[in-house]
Amino acid sequence: MLYSEKVMDHFKNPRNVGEMPDADGIGEVGNAKCGDIMRMYIKVKNGIITDVKFMTFGCGSAIATSSMATELIKGKPIEKALEITNQAVVEALDGLPAYKLHCSVLAEEAIKAAIKDYFEKHHIKYDEKTYAKGNCACLIEHEHAQEQKVKAEAKKSAKKVLSKPASAKTKAATTASKTNKVAKKSSTKKAKTTKK
Ligand code: FES
Repeated sequence: MLYSEKVMDHFKNPRNVGEMPDADGIGEVGNAKCGDIMRMYIKVKNGIITDVKFMTFGCGSAIATSSMATELIKGKPIEKALEITNQAVVEALDGLPAYKLHCSVLAEEAIKAAIKDYFEKHHIKYDEKTYAKGNCACLIEHEHAQEQKVKAEAKKSAKKVLSKPASAKTKAATTASKTNKVAKKSSTKKAKTTKK
């Protein structure tokens, strides 16, 4: 089977779905490529995540990974929740197909975004490097794809420029043959006029 039983279970019966009006931290993340959006809410007491909820607009794997991520951080101290990686979410789900791994990255990002929001709202100092742009594999993958796109476009336009002289040559040759034809015609005309 393409998806493990656990993935199917969390997809069909997602845990901790819903909103949390009195959340201490809310993290919303999205994937620019597929357009999926994940929002995570956390309730924190004495440094422990006492409750967590999520809302995901996305694929089945995004729903399953969000659900599993909430289960993994519920009842955990914030420092432990920050240690949860997308691989940990994938392992807890007994794996995901390679092309769906980015969905688990979204879950890791959502946890971090919710905790960051909690820190900011409660004026708690945190290490900015943990949330640095480009830290997440998903963004790196996206930026790499963008880079490749720019390179491919540059290559394409370079090819166009290189092929210009050739077409210019063809144009010149066509103009030359046209000029020859006109010259020939006028000389024939001249000859005819002389005969008369
Ligand atoms: Fe976008 Fe799954 S396809 S998160």
